[in-house]
Amino acid sequence: MPITYNQDKRIFHLQGKTFSYCLFLDASMGLMNLYWGGRLPDGDVSYLMDSYWGGASFDLTYGRAPHEIPTRGTGYYGTPAVCAENEQGNDVVKLTYVAHSIRSGKRRLEGLPAVYVEDEREATSLVIELLDPLTGLHVETEYTVMEDLDVLTRSMRLKNTGNAALTLTHMQSASVPLYGYDYDMINLSGAWARERAINRTPLNHASVRVESQRGASSHEQNPFIALCDKNATEQAGSVWAMTLVYSGSFLAVAEVNNFDNARMSLGLNPEVCHWRLAPGEVFQTPEAILVYSDAGFNGMSQRFHKTIRTRLVRGVWRDQPRPILINNWEATYFQFTEESILDIASFASKLGIELFVLDDGWFGKRDQDNCSLGDWVVNRRKLPHGIDGLARKINEMGMRFGLWFEPEMVSPDSDLYRAHPDWCLHVDGRSRTEARQQQILDLSRREVQDYIIDAISGVLSNAPIGYVKWDMNRNMTEYFSGNCAPEHQMETQHRYMLGLYRVLETITNAYPDVLFEGCSGGGGRFDAGFLHYMPQVWTSDDTDPVERLAIQYGTSMVYPPSAMGAHVSASPNHQTGRATSVKMRAEVALGGNFGFELDLSKLSQQDLETVRQTVQTVKEVRATLQKGTFFRLESPFSGNFAAWQFVDEESGDVVLCAYQRLVKPNPTAHRVFAQGLCPDAFYQDIASGATYSGSALMHAGLPLPIATGDYSSWIYRFHRQ
Ligand code: DGJ
Repeated sequence: MPITYNQDKRIFHLQGKTFSYCLFLDASMGLMNLYWGGRLPDGDVSYLMDSYWGGASFDLTYGRAPHEIPTRGTGYYGTPAVCAENEQGNDVVKLTYVAHSIRSGKRRLEGLPAVYVEDEREATSLVIELLDPLTGLHVETEYTVMEDLDVLTRSMRLKNTGNAALTLTHMQSASVPLYGYDYDMINLSGAWARERAINRTPLNHASVRVESQRGASSHEQNPFIALCDKNATEQAGSVWAMTLVYSGSFLAVAEVNNFDNARMSLGLNPEVCHWRLAPGEVFQTPEAILVYSDAGFNGMSQRFHKTIRTRLVRGVWRDQPRPILINNWEATYFQFTEESILDIASFASKLGIELFVLDDGWFGKRDQDNCSLGDWVVNRRKLPHGIDGLARKINEMGMRFGLWFEPEMVSPDSDLYRAHPDWCLHVDGRSRTEARQQQILDLSRREVQDYIIDAISGVLSNAPIGYVKWDMNRNMTEYFSGNCAPEHQMETQHRYMLGLYRVLETITNAYPDVLFEGCSGGGGRFDAGFLHYMPQVWTSDDTDPVERLAIQYGTSMVYPPSAMGAHVSASPNHQTGRATSVKMRAEVALGGNFGFELDLSKLSQQDLETVRQTVQTVKEVRATLQKGTFFRLESPFSGNFAAWQFVDEESGDVVLCAYQRLVKPNPTAHRVFAQGLCPDAFYQDIASGATYSGSALMHAGLPLPIATGDYSSWIYRFHRQ
């Protein structure tokens, strides 16, 4: 049984394939966390509790204890997991155990994305109930062990069982103390066009915040945090990691207290989210996915990947091969006609490309980014036969048709804004900050949600649309609503997310065969929450393959390659001006959901042949790319080379991708060391016919050819014999 309760010792033991997570009820029935790490045969670590007291100290004992749900006001001075202000104006809360239950399966989270099960036997869940008797704040903290996936999920339901309103000001989905502080912290930071760079910094006696207040999970930081051993590498060492299944503002904290113990926590961002809880009301926090790996960062990522790929992503596209697409954005931007679009599509169809995506500019009077968002009516000047006419012509070429929307936005120059100026996030009496000349619709309002559902459904129902790109190109300002009472205004950001999730749930359920791809100015909303509704997300507007090595490598820390949109674009690149070969561009894009974003008719015959061959190769290997176990082999953050690898253990197929940035004179051949192969099995290189043992590929390595110019790439396909 993955979860047991030892009544004598008052220990809850949550046990995955390789981890244990041990909770303890102390003498006053407070909930403590005594252990999270490698799997223990039984979870009896109650002997550790006394070790927290040490000798005489100025400090209050309560604060030293390894609280599972730390609160404020009784001696704990770190980041609280739960804070509730009462009508008396204080926020002192002390939670003690009331009851618990253990059952098979996993509960759905009302209105929020979450990991799911397809069979109750896949998971075991524990709910522990705690109460603060004075305020009546009742906390149900829920844990699920997904045994096969080897991950733990956590969330809380906070209920006001008292007689007076409470205002929740902290709602961390997970907060875990760890013994000692000799760890490094990992977070993924970035900006538009340079998303998810891997940062590794030593933890110190300080509190480090990784956060977004932007109303989106954001380019700037990703809702992920990990602590690791100082010597942890991609292949070895202990890593403790969390990601939040949520697409809005978040706060992750790593901190060390004055007794040299660390804590990491992750949840809604208290700077921009408070929630007023009337008597009888319940608040559900988002879910956090917790991973412990004793096999380094690859071990961590593989657990995240499989969980996201198989039990967070839903729908028919979860397991189907994803189509190779061509998007017109970088080929035409806003300047296109039906004829020019059909030219691009026709060219692409002859190369074996399977889906054409019409990007921004097809609606209203939108010839640049200053108008029409919200008016989802086709522009007949550009597309005289409408979306339906265009889609049918593209279908006749043997391709699916896809369409871009930015449903959450409104342009001040739009019929929608003129009709409903109060429908965007705003503060009465203040000017409305614009970004990309647009405002954000107030999705906390039901009528706005319904408008979006109707407008998007109207387009999807009237044309053979097989794919939707769901974009979102600015962050929130004046994130308040014209439609709620002052005491609820600080709920607006989270209410927006709940509204957005309702819209996504409704639309994706209504159009189950449509493949949806998320996007936010590139990869500004790449998170586990969004992936519950759409299996893939545009990774970055930076399509330069050299930059993409780092962006895709960093993104893969948490998210599977099957979730990452990756396109071949023009050279010189529009973001960096760098010139690279079409081979390099294609072989980097092959590391994600492969596609194109350029005018193929401008390529030379030789480059077109490379495109044709790569399209063919992707079709042959995409099952391995989508479902294989992903290994990062060499980091573009630390050297001139980068490498990664996909291993399909079942079929025995392996795809190894290696890249070199700059050429060096007179070098020794660089070797790449494979991972995850059967040491005693033999693997045949499909191109050359050469055969190597798994051991040789992993321990002696594979020498790369000597590069003859900058920006080189090599793809190896092996088959286990
Ligand atoms: C931002 C996206 O990341 C781009 O791919 C493109 O769709 C533009 N928006 C269109 O405005």
